[in-house]
Amino acid sequence: MRLVKLIANLGYGSRKEIQTAIKNGWVTDRDGNTLKATSQTPHEDILFDDEPLDPAPGMVLAMNKPLGYTCSTNDQGKLVYDLLPDRYRMRKPVLSTIGRLDKETSGLLLFTDDGTFLHKVISPKANVGKVYEVTLDRPMKGNETALFASGEMMLESEDKPLKPAMLEVLDDTHARVILHEGRYHQVRRMFAATGNHVTNLSRTQIGGLSLGCLEDGQWRMLDEADKARIFEG
Ligand code: URA
Repeated sequence: MRLVKLIANLGYGSRKEIQTAIKNGWVTDRDGNTLKATSQTPHEDILFDDEPLDPAPGMVLAMNKPLGYTCSTNDQGKLVYDLLPDRYRMRKPVLSTIGRLDKETSGLLLFTDDGTFLHKVISPKANVGKVYEVTLDRPMKGNETALFASGEMMLESEDKPLKPAMLEVLDDTHARVILHEGRYHQVRRMFAATGNHVTNLSRTQIGGLSLGCLEDGQWRMLDEADKARIFEG
Protein backbone atom coordinates (compact mmCIF):
# COMPACT_ATOMS: atom_id res chain seq x y z
CA MET A 1 0.00 0.00 0.00
CA ARG A 2 1.20 3.53 -0.76
CA LEU A 3 2.71 5.33 2.21
CA VAL A 4 0.14 8.17 2.31
CA LYS A 5 -2.83 5.79 2.38
CA LEU A 6 -1.13 3.46 4.87
CA ILE A 7 -0.52 6.25 7.38
CA ALA A 8 -3.88 7.97 6.79
CA ASN A 9 -5.65 4.63 7.41
CA LEU A 10 -3.96 4.44 10.81
CA GLY A 11 -5.76 7.67 11.77
CA TYR A 12 -2.75 10.04 11.76
CA GLY A 13 -4.61 12.53 9.53
CA SER A 14 -6.28 13.02 6.18
CA ARG A 15 -4.37 12.00 3.05
CA LYS A 16 -3.66 15.68 2.43
CA GLU A 17 -2.23 16.09 5.95
CA ILE A 18 -0.06 13.00 5.52
CA GLN A 19 1.23 14.28 2.16
CA THR A 20 2.26 17.48 3.94
CA ALA A 21 3.87 15.50 6.77
CA ILE A 22 5.91 13.52 4.23
CA LYS A 23 6.94 16.74 2.41
CA ASN A 24 7.96 18.27 5.76
CA GLY A 25 10.20 15.27 6.48
CA TRP A 26 8.24 14.04 9.49
CA VAL A 27 8.06 10.50 8.11
CA THR A 28 11.39 8.68 8.33
CA ASP A 29 12.87 5.22 8.65
CA ARG A 30 14.69 3.97 11.73
CA ASP A 31 18.00 5.32 10.41
CA GLY A 32 16.56 8.82 10.18
CA ASN A 33 16.23 8.84 6.37
CA THR A 34 13.31 10.94 5.17
CA LEU A 35 10.75 8.84 3.30
CA LYS A 36 9.03 9.78 0.03
CA ALA A 37 5.41 9.05 -0.85
CA THR A 38 6.69 6.25 -3.11
CA SER A 39 8.95 4.62 -0.47
CA GLN A 40 8.38 0.91 0.13
CA THR A 41 9.71 0.77 3.71
CA PRO A 42 8.31 -2.06 5.88
CA HIS A 43 5.62 -0.89 8.33
CA GLU A 44 7.70 -1.72 11.41
CA ASP A 45 10.60 0.49 10.18
CA ILE A 46 8.51 3.63 9.63
CA LEU A 47 8.59 6.48 12.16
CA PHE A 48 6.08 9.34 12.28
CA ASP A 49 7.39 12.33 14.18
CA ASP A 50 10.22 10.13 15.55
CA GLU A 51 7.76 7.55 16.95
CA PRO A 52 7.15 4.08 15.48
CA LEU A 53 3.84 3.82 13.62
CA ASP A 54 0.87 2.23 15.39
CA PRO A 55 0.36 -1.45 14.56
CA ALA A 56 -0.85 -2.43 11.10
CA PRO A 57 -4.42 -3.69 10.71
CA GLY A 58 -4.92 -6.98 12.51
CA MET A 59 -4.43 -5.62 16.00
CA VAL A 60 -6.23 -6.89 19.07
CA LEU A 61 -6.12 -5.12 22.41
CA ALA A 62 -7.43 -5.78 25.89
CA MET A 63 -8.71 -3.10 28.27
CA ASN A 64 -9.76 -3.12 31.88
CA LYS A 65 -12.94 -1.14 31.33
CA PRO A 66 -13.81 1.11 34.26
CA LEU A 67 -17.35 1.62 35.54
CA GLY A 68 -19.26 4.49 33.93
CA TYR A 69 -17.82 4.10 30.40
CA THR A 70 -19.99 3.14 27.41
CA CYS A 71 -18.91 0.70 24.68
CA SER A 72 -19.81 3.02 21.82
CA THR A 73 -18.09 5.45 19.48
CA ASN A 74 -20.68 8.20 19.71
CA ASP A 75 -22.85 8.06 22.87
CA GLN A 76 -23.00 10.97 25.26
CA GLY A 77 -20.81 10.71 28.34
CA LYS A 78 -17.60 8.77 28.81
CA LEU A 79 -16.69 6.27 26.08
CA VAL A 80 -14.22 3.39 26.18
CA TYR A 81 -12.57 4.96 23.11
CA ASP A 82 -11.68 8.01 25.24
CA LEU A 83 -9.15 5.77 27.00
CA LEU A 84 -7.29 4.97 23.76
CA PRO A 85 -5.18 7.29 21.57
CA ASP A 86 -7.51 9.64 19.64
CA ARG A 87 -6.33 8.41 16.27
CA TYR A 88 -7.54 4.84 17.01
CA ARG A 89 -11.06 6.15 16.40
CA MET A 90 -10.07 7.18 12.87
CA ARG A 91 -8.50 3.86 11.84
CA LYS A 92 -9.57 2.02 8.70
CA PRO A 93 -10.57 -0.75 9.07
CA VAL A 94 -12.53 0.42 12.09
CA LEU A 95 -11.50 -0.62 15.60
CA SER A 96 -14.52 -2.31 17.25
CA THR A 97 -15.16 -3.83 20.64
CA ILE A 98 -15.58 -7.61 20.61
CA GLY A 99 -18.98 -7.75 22.28
CA ARG A 100 -19.89 -5.15 24.87
CA LEU A 101 -20.02 -4.53 28.58
CA ASP A 102 -22.78 -2.41 30.13
CA LYS A 103 -21.91 1.09 31.24
CA GLU A 104 -22.03 -0.10 34.87
CA THR A 105 -19.98 -3.27 34.28
CA SER A 106 -16.19 -3.20 34.57
CA GLY A 107 -13.46 -5.56 33.47
CA LEU A 108 -11.97 -7.31 30.49
CA LEU A 109 -13.00 -5.83 27.14
CA LEU A 110 -11.39 -6.74 23.81
CA PHE A 111 -11.07 -4.55 20.72
CA THR A 112 -10.01 -5.46 17.21
CA ASP A 113 -9.94 -4.10 13.67
CA ASP A 114 -9.91 -7.65 12.29
CA GLY A 115 -13.46 -8.70 11.41
CA THR A 116 -12.52 -12.34 10.91
CA PHE A 117 -10.97 -12.50 14.37
CA LEU A 118 -13.98 -10.74 15.92
CA HIS A 119 -16.40 -13.26 14.43
CA LYS A 120 -14.18 -16.14 15.47
CA VAL A 121 -14.34 -15.00 19.12
CA ILE A 122 -18.11 -14.44 19.22
CA SER A 123 -19.01 -17.47 17.10
CA PRO A 124 -21.06 -20.06 19.03
CA LYS A 125 -18.79 -22.67 17.44
CA ALA A 126 -15.75 -21.31 19.33
CA ASN A 127 -17.76 -21.62 22.58
CA VAL A 128 -15.54 -19.07 24.33
CA GLY A 129 -16.44 -18.83 28.03
CA LYS A 130 -16.66 -15.46 29.79
CA VAL A 131 -16.13 -15.23 33.52
CA TYR A 132 -17.95 -12.61 35.63
CA GLU A 133 -17.52 -11.78 39.30
CA VAL A 134 -20.85 -10.77 40.80
CA THR A 135 -21.86 -8.99 44.00
CA LEU A 136 -25.50 -9.30 45.00
CA ASP A 137 -27.87 -7.19 47.02
CA ARG A 138 -29.33 -10.19 48.91
CA PRO A 139 -28.17 -13.67 49.86
CA MET A 140 -28.69 -16.31 47.18
CA LYS A 141 -31.49 -18.79 47.81
CA GLY A 142 -29.54 -21.96 47.01
CA ASN A 143 -31.33 -23.02 43.81
CA GLU A 144 -29.41 -20.66 41.50
CA THR A 145 -26.61 -23.08 40.56
CA ALA A 146 -29.04 -25.74 39.33
CA LEU A 147 -31.26 -23.20 37.57
CA PHE A 148 -28.37 -21.55 35.71
CA ALA A 149 -26.94 -24.95 34.71
CA SER A 150 -30.28 -26.35 33.54
CA GLY A 151 -30.22 -25.13 29.95
CA GLU A 152 -33.93 -24.38 30.47
CA MET A 153 -33.80 -20.97 32.07
CA MET A 154 -35.91 -18.42 30.17
CA LEU A 155 -35.39 -14.68 30.43
CA GLU A 156 -38.32 -12.31 30.17
CA SER A 157 -39.37 -11.42 26.61
CA GLU A 158 -37.08 -14.06 25.06
CA ASP A 159 -38.20 -17.17 23.24
CA LYS A 160 -35.10 -19.35 23.57
CA PRO A 161 -33.76 -20.79 26.84
CA LEU A 162 -30.29 -19.80 28.00
CA LYS A 163 -27.39 -22.13 27.40
CA PRO A 164 -26.22 -23.85 30.60
CA ALA A 165 -24.15 -21.43 32.69
CA MET A 166 -21.87 -22.28 35.58
CA LEU A 167 -22.33 -20.60 38.94
CA GLU A 168 -19.65 -20.82 41.58
CA VAL A 169 -20.90 -19.52 44.92
CA LEU A 170 -18.15 -17.66 46.81
CA ASP A 171 -20.35 -16.64 49.77
CA ASP A 172 -24.06 -15.79 50.03
CA THR A 173 -23.75 -12.48 48.18
CA HIS A 174 -20.71 -13.15 45.96
CA ALA A 175 -20.44 -15.49 42.99
CA ARG A 176 -18.56 -16.26 39.82
CA VAL A 177 -20.60 -16.94 36.68
CA ILE A 178 -19.32 -18.48 33.45
CA LEU A 179 -21.36 -17.80 30.31
CA HIS A 180 -20.95 -19.18 26.81
CA GLU A 181 -23.20 -16.64 25.15
CA GLY A 182 -23.84 -12.93 25.48
CA ARG A 183 -27.45 -11.83 25.69
CA TYR A 184 -28.40 -8.28 26.56
CA HIS A 185 -27.66 -7.57 30.28
CA GLN A 186 -27.51 -11.33 30.70
CA VAL A 187 -25.95 -11.69 34.16
CA ARG A 188 -28.12 -8.95 35.67
CA ARG A 189 -31.27 -10.46 34.13
CA MET A 190 -30.39 -13.97 35.28
CA PHE A 191 -30.14 -12.85 38.90
CA ALA A 192 -33.19 -10.59 38.55
CA ALA A 193 -35.12 -13.72 37.49
CA THR A 194 -34.18 -15.27 40.87
CA GLY A 195 -35.51 -12.22 42.75
CA ASN A 196 -32.05 -10.79 43.39
CA HIS A 197 -30.21 -7.69 42.21
CA VAL A 198 -26.61 -7.36 40.98
CA THR A 199 -24.87 -4.45 42.69
CA ASN A 200 -21.43 -4.97 41.17
CA LEU A 201 -20.38 -6.82 38.02
CA SER A 202 -16.94 -7.32 36.55
CA ARG A 203 -15.65 -9.56 33.75
CA THR A 204 -12.35 -11.14 34.71
CA GLN A 205 -11.70 -13.62 31.90
CA ILE A 206 -12.49 -14.36 28.26
CA GLY A 207 -11.59 -17.95 27.35
CA GLY A 208 -8.18 -18.53 28.90
CA LEU A 209 -7.25 -14.83 28.83
CA SER A 210 -7.41 -13.01 32.18
CA LEU A 211 -7.28 -9.34 33.07
CA GLY A 212 -3.79 -9.94 34.50
CA CYS A 213 -2.24 -6.82 35.96
CA LEU A 214 -4.24 -4.28 33.92
CA GLU A 215 -5.44 -1.54 36.26
CA ASP A 216 -8.75 0.26 35.81
CA GLY A 217 -8.73 2.02 32.42
CA GLN A 218 -5.42 0.50 31.32
CA TRP A 219 -5.06 -1.42 28.07
CA ARG A 220 -2.42 -3.41 26.20
CA MET A 221 -1.83 -4.92 22.76
CA LEU A 222 -2.27 -8.67 22.60
CA ASP A 223 0.39 -10.84 20.98
CA GLU A 224 -0.22 -14.13 19.18
CA ALA A 225 0.08 -16.14 22.43
CA ASP A 226 -2.54 -13.93 24.14
CA LYS A 227 -4.84 -14.28 21.15
CA ALA A 228 -4.50 -18.06 21.20
CA ARG A 229 -5.29 -18.08 24.94
CA ILE A 230 -8.77 -16.69 24.21
CA PHE A 231 -9.66 -20.00 22.57
CA GLU A 232 -8.23 -22.12 25.39
CA GLY A 233 -9.77 -23.12 28.68
N1 URA B 1 -24.09 -9.36 31.73
C1 URA B 1 -24.56 -8.16 32.11
O1 URA B 1 -25.60 -8.07 32.74
N2 URA B 1 -23.84 -7.08 31.77
C2 URA B 1 -22.68 -7.12 31.09
O2 URA B 1 -22.07 -6.09 30.84
C3 URA B 1 -22.22 -8.38 30.71
C4 URA B 1 -22.93 -9.48 31.04
